[in-house]
Amino acid sequence: MRVFHLSAECYPVAKVGGLADVVGALPKYQNLLGLKAAVVMPYYNRKFVQENHFDTVFQASTLLGTRRLYFEILKERTDKLGFELYLVRIPGLIDREEVYQYPDETEQFIAFQIAFLDWISYSQQTPDLIHCHDHHSGLVPFLLQHSKLYTRLANVPTILTIHNGQYHGAFGWDKLSYLPEIDVTKTGLLDWGGSINPLASAVKCCWRFTTVSPSYLQELSISSNGLEYLFYLERAKGSGIINGIDTEIWDPNNDPMIPHKFSIKQIAKGKQADKQALCERFGFTPEKPLVSFIGRLVLEKGADILPAALERSFNEHPGKFDMLILGAGEKGVENGLLHLKKVYPEQCNVFIGYDEALAHLIYAGSDFLLMPSRVEPCGLNQLYALRYGTLPMVRSTGGLKDTVVDFGDEGGYGIRYNNASIDDICDAISRALTLFENTKHVQHLRKIMMALDFSWDRSAKEYINLYESLNPII
Ligand code: ADP
Ligand code: GLC
Repeated sequence: MRVFHLSAECYPVAKVGGLADVVGALPKYQNLLGLKAAVVMPYYNRKFVQENHFDTVFQASTLLGTRRLYFEILKERTDKLGFELYLVRIPGLIDREEVYQYPDETEQFIAFQIAFLDWISYSQQTPDLIHCHDHHSGLVPFLLQHSKLYTRLANVPTILTIHNGQYHGAFGWDKLSYLPEIDVTKTGLLDWGGSINPLASAVKCCWRFTTVSPSYLQELSISSNGLEYLFYLERAKGSGIINGIDTEIWDPNNDPMIPHKFSIKQIAKGKQADKQALCERFGFTPEKPLVSFIGRLVLEKGADILPAALERSFNEHPGKFDMLILGAGEKGVENGLLHLKKVYPEQCNVFIGYDEALAHLIYAGSDFLLMPSRVEPCGLNQLYALRYGTLPMVRSTGGLKDTVVDFGDEGGYGIRYNNASIDDICDAISRALTLFENTKHVQHLRKIMMALDFSWDRSAKEYINLYESLNPII
C-alpha cells in the first residue's frame, strides 16, 4: 500500500516540535512493516536540504487565484531516512528558512497542497491513501472530493491526524479563489465560525481522523479553540493512537549526542556521568536533585507559571535542588525565567533557544522532567525522559495522562498532578525531593521506566490497521 504523509515538519529535515519527530519516524516504522510510506513536505532552506542531494522529479506551474506559481517536486536521492522524502519547492513562496510565522503563511500552505495535488494527479503517483497531519494539509480532503481538477483522485481515502487542535489555520473568504475549480455548492464544508477553517474542513471531509492519544480525543470535544461541537458531531470518525518514539535516535545506550552511554542493565554510572557533564556546563552540584524543563515557552505548556512556581519552590527548599530550563517562546515568559536565573543564580539556569543535542543531554543527565502542560495532545518529552531513566512530573492531561502512572499507584513510576497551578507544581517538586532521598527507590523506578516500551511498533501497526479498514483490497 502506497501512502503519502503530508506534513509541515519532519525530523531531521525541519523540526519545531513533536510533529517533526512523529513524521520522521512513523513512515520508517510503517515501511519496516511492509508499507510504502513517503513524506511530502514544503522545501525549507535549511541544513538538511543544503547538505543532501535531491533530484527534481516533477516541474509544472499552477495558479493561486490569479498568481501563476512555478513549482518543482524534489526527491531525496538515497531514501536514507527510511522513507522517500519529497519536497515541494515554489521559488519566492516556499523556499525560505523558517517553518512558520510568515505573513503569507496561508498562501504558503495552500500552494503546498495544490502543488502536491497537481503533481500526483498529473503524474503516475496516485497513492492508495493520503495521511494529512494538522491543518497545514487540511484542505486536501475537501479538494480531492470537490475540485474538478482532481476528480481522478476523488476516491483516494484520507486520514487526518490531529497533533494540535488549538491551531486551525483559519483565513477569510476573500481567499476562496485560491482553491481551484471547486464546487461552490459545497463551500459549507470549508466553513467554521465564519471563516475558511482548514482543520475543521479536514475533520468534516476526511475518511477518518485520529488524535495522538486517546485522552486527547475526549478533550477535543471539551476544549479545541472553538471546534468542540464539530468534534462532538464527527466523533464516530475519530480514534486515538498514542505516538511512539524513534528508539534508534532516542537510545541512551547508543546516542552520539550524550557523552556517557547507559542501558537498563547498568543505569547509575553512565547516567550520573551525564549528570556531571550537564552540571559542569550549567554550574550545578551533581549531588543535588536536578529538575529540568524542555519545551516551547507558551501557555499550552504551562510555561507562564514556571517563574512564580519555581520561585516559591526555591524559597520552600532553599539550596535543595537545581532547575534547568531549555526553551524559547513568548518573550514575557523568557524574561520571567531569565529574571529568576538572576535572582537564584546558584539554583537556576536557563538556556533560551533551540538545541537538539542539549535536549538529549538533559534527558540523560536530569533526575526529573517537569511538564505542567495545560494542553498536551501526546507529548514526547515524557517518553524520552522515561527512556533515559528520568522521572517525568506531569499534569494529568492528554497523552501525559495516558503514558505516565504516578509512583504512588500500583506499578507507577512518575509524578502526576491535576492542575497547571503554582500549588500543584510546588507539591510535585516537594514529592520529587522526598523521593530523591530514597536512592534505592529512585533506582527501582528508573528500571521500571526504562523497561517501558513506547517504540513505534505497536502504534505503526494501529495506523496500518486503520488504513486497511478503509482500503481492504490493496
Ligand atoms: P510539542 O510538539 O508540543 O512542542 P512534544 O513533546 O510533542 O511537544 O515534542 C517536543 C519536541 O521538541 C521534543 O523532541 C523536544 O525534545 C523538542 N524540543 C522542544 N523544545 C526544544 C528546545 N528548545 N531545544 C531542543 N529541543 C526541543
Ligand atoms: C503536538 C503536540 C504534542 C505532540 C506532538 C506530536 O505538537 O503539542 O503533544 O506530542 O504534536 O504528535
